[in-house]
Amino acid sequence: MKTMVSSLSAGLSGNFRVPGDKSISHRSVMLGSLAEGVTEVNGFLEAQDALATLKAFQSMGVKIERLGEGRLRIHGVGLYGLKKPKSDLYVGNSGTSMRLLSGILAGQVFDSVLTGDSSLTKRPMRRVLDPLAQMGAKVGSTDRGTSPLQIYGDGQLSGIRYEMPMGSAQVKSCLLLAGLYAEGETTVVEPAVTRDHTERMLRGFGYAVKTQGNAVSLKGGGRLKGMSIDVPSDISSVAFFLVAASMTPNSDITLEHVGINPTRTGIIDILLLMGADIQLLNRREVGGENVADIRVRSCALNGINVPEELVALAIDEFPVLFVAAAYAKGKTVVTGAEELRVKESDRIQTMADGLQALGVSAQATSDGMIIEGGDVQGGEVESFDDHRIAMAFAVAGLQSRSAIKINNCENVGTSFPSFVELALFCGFKISTQ
Ligand code: S3P
Repeated sequence: MKTMVSSLSAGLSGNFRVPGDKSISHRSVMLGSLAEGVTEVNGFLEAQDALATLKAFQSMGVKIERLGEGRLRIHGVGLYGLKKPKSDLYVGNSGTSMRLLSGILAGQVFDSVLTGDSSLTKRPMRRVLDPLAQMGAKVGSTDRGTSPLQIYGDGQLSGIRYEMPMGSAQVKSCLLLAGLYAEGETTVVEPAVTRDHTERMLRGFGYAVKTQGNAVSLKGGGRLKGMSIDVPSDISSVAFFLVAASMTPNSDITLEHVGINPTRTGIIDILLLMGADIQLLNRREVGGENVADIRVRSCALNGINVPEELVALAIDEFPVLFVAAAYAKGKTVVTGAEELRVKESDRIQTMADGLQALGVSAQATSDGMIIEGGDVQGGEVESFDDHRIAMAFAVAGLQSRSAIKINNCENVGTSFPSFVELALFCGFKISTQ
């Protein structure tokens, strides 16, 4: 799919389920591979990013059976059972694969190289390489601290206490995974709470992980035991529909079986502050993760100052939140979100440029954006090869004065290959080429 053209919709309706959570899918393959015994996964996200992790473990000798849509059977090899891959591990667009894998690879006895696509090779990797080196890992990168990453297998890792300079679940997870191989205790202290799927899943696999305030610790030398994992729908994919149904008159949709881990629900809290009509129904717990069906109906959104403590809890949802702000009454101010500049694209700049091209008053700041809600015109925007930018502008097209054409949409397949199908199902008007 090269381009999407999104135009006026008279309302969204229906009950449906979006694909599995990307973060949990990555981790299910990683921990399932490193566990002893079989791990069965249901609801695995069959999208390029999570499949990149799956292929990486297959090329390190792990037998992973694909039993049908979203169903995997992983024959774990134990923490010390991975084999040296025959070639470089290519993980495409996936920052999660690269950063989490680097922690696991630092604990191996073989050398390896991690590479990615043109977007991933621009993203900062020192944030994981520096603390890994402090643990004793032997690692290399380009002079700019970007991939390809070389990870040499002769590092003897020792546990450290690391105060992370930024809120990043990828950095935290990388260090905890390296900590599985380290002598003694590894402690990661985060400046803001970030998604805790790694900690939860490690516990599910029978590994002791201690959380005390913002510090997470584990000791090396334990074992993981295979288990069953039910991956809920990805709230980051659901987010497009939460905003879409809120801003489109005559809408009433229900998203089923959505992961509502409290470290991921910032999008719901922010939309509620903007006046959204969102209800969490049938709350339940599935395999250590909180799940609910989410009903959302149209409403008038108001601009707000987004509380900074919610930023890390909604970090992947800002592209579509900026769209919500463009349709809201009044001003929305986002601060403390400088991490958006180092995502699959610089999401502050790419969204500000796109919104301005649609006639919205959107001013990029160093750590966020100031948006004056109002009329959104149609026009042509670039996705900058970023899946979430492409889908956010597809949502913008639901109520714009004329259609919005979005260029370079191939990367929608990295996280949400069925986006257009589900969008059409509930009432979007999208054509693709
Ligand atoms: C992720 C963490 C976040 C998020 C990414 C997935 C994870 O990245 O943006 O999409 O699965 O741990 P950062 O750790 O860079 O914030």
